[in-house]
Amino acid sequence: MASFNLQLLPGDGIGPEVMAEVGRVIDWLNANSGAKFETETDLVGGSCYDAHSVSITEDAIKRADQSDAVIFGAVGGPKWDSVPYDVRPEAGLLRLRKDLDLFANLRPAICYPALANASSLKPEVIEGLDILILRELTGGVYFGEPKEVVTLESGEKRAVDTQLYTTHEIERIARVAFELARTRANKVTSMEKRNVMRSGVLWNQVVTELHAAEYTDVELEHMLADAGGMQLVRWPKQFDVIVTDNLFGDMLSDVAAMLTGSLGMLPSASLGAPHPVTLKRKSLYEPVHGSAPDIAGEGKANPIAMIASLGMALRYSCDMGEAADLVDAAIADVLAEGVRTADLATEGQNTVSTREMGDAILAAMSKRAG
Ligand code: IPM
Ligand code: MN
Repeated sequence: MASFNLQLLPGDGIGPEVMAEVGRVIDWLNANSGAKFETETDLVGGSCYDAHSVSITEDAIKRADQSDAVIFGAVGGPKWDSVPYDVRPEAGLLRLRKDLDLFANLRPAICYPALANASSLKPEVIEGLDILILRELTGGVYFGEPKEVVTLESGEKRAVDTQLYTTHEIERIARVAFELARTRANKVTSMEKRNVMRSGVLWNQVVTELHAAEYTDVELEHMLADAGGMQLVRWPKQFDVIVTDNLFGDMLSDVAAMLTGSLGMLPSASLGAPHPVTLKRKSLYEPVHGSAPDIAGEGKANPIAMIASLGMALRYSCDMGEAADLVDAAIADVLAEGVRTADLATEGQNTVSTREMGDAILAAMSKRAG
């Protein structure tokens, strides 16, 4: 029997609430899927800072490295606004990404038919939307050195962040983009700011060269990232795979999230390179939404992005495509039935709690599994 070891990192804010629903889906899979999942839970983010004065412990990093997949909730909140920069909640997540070398961040934006009216855009603009934002996750301005605040002789301060990309970093993310495009609508749009940034010039060049050398069967288009943001809200269905750097990818994926009706809908997968012998990839799965401290603890949060992130883990880390399809189909079922958490509801619609949404998804899974 296939068996997997999952590390659960619920984190802060609504993280623990939505992770609780993932725990129930895992129980369901243990009872019904034929595969065996073992989980261990660790602290991360502000809750880890409160207990250990760091945003992730060395032990937790070690367990993440040894797990088949890390399932991550959300980190951060106003409570930790003034903790030292190095141990702020977000540092735990950034450390996991960097230490596990999770350079490829897949953020699919799918508009479920039932939610076409929940978006702030016109239904015809987003109906049937199925795009994938591929964000480079371990380079760029998030990690480039120097990264510092220095005090000048005048007493004034100067802050520096460094946008930095090497050929190798660009090539490996571009390769993932072309490979993914081949399994989808076969089109890649690469977004950078080559009109302003040297790193954008190199990005454009490396993507163009890799395409010419190995992927001429895939359609490639280049777009300036600002124009790309505009096109994403104007006519998002023109895209298939969008590949972009760490910072642009952060922003463009939040835009893409709202195309789907709510930020509470978007899962993501962060993958490393396949191991040369076992072909296994290190991986972390997390919803794109944050910790939403304003609604934390109220049982209102939408657990769909979190559960769909577990679905992505089944697909990419456990080779359980059928179980992943089942999770996705169950989500589509409950949405079609009209089950809505508060973030998805339009005027006059009844809303359900986090737990009730979890109940509905589990029931839909059982029904489909017969
Ligand atoms: C995301 C988040 C993170 C990021 C934060 C929490 C560090 O916004 O995953 O999109 O900026 O990458
Ligand atoms: Mn973000």
